[in-house]
Amino acid sequence: MPRLAIYPGSFDPPTLGHRDVAQRASRLFDGVIVAIGANSLKTNLLSVEDRLRALASCFEDLPNVQVKAFDGLLVDYARSEGAAFIVRGLRAVSDFDYEFQVSMANDQLAPEIETVLLMTSWEYSYVSSTIVREVFRLGGDLSGFVPPSVIKIMESARNP
Ligand code: PNS
Repeated sequence: MPRLAIYPGSFDPPTLGHRDVAQRASRLFDGVIVAIGANSLKTNLLSVEDRLRALASCFEDLPNVQVKAFDGLLVDYARSEGAAFIVRGLRAVSDFDYEFQVSMANDQLAPEIETVLLMTSWEYSYVSSTIVREVFRLGGDLSGFVPPSVIKIMESARNP
């Protein structure tokens, strides 16, 4: 059985840290689905279509990584894809509380699905989509935060 993992997130926009986590997951699993989930608590900068394009541009060199979007519960989506693993990235201890809580909830809902927390490279420990959105809004240089292909998609979303 191929070992398939879902790497879910809002990816609004995808950052160098997200790419780093997906790359690590692609070495651990036979296949990785990077999946955009709706998070109703967040206001989106990029549409789902733009995020799909941005993510696809990040993983062109990783043949075992696919990019998709889902609605509803993550564990239902993971089951529908036949994935036995959920991957999430940890930048610092401050991420742990939330990830621990969500992984316990997911474990309660779907005990057969294992959550795997991967540490992001230290270089990206400060990078978040929230910070990227703020720097973008204020016209700052995004090159240390997101891949060049994502900057292009963000700029064309601002000036269609
Ligand atoms: O990048 P984010 O915003 O931390 O990603 C959050 C996401 C999309 C992974 C999360 O909101 C999610 O899994 N949403 C689907 C609904 C769900 O299953 N929630 C977890 C059970 S409480």
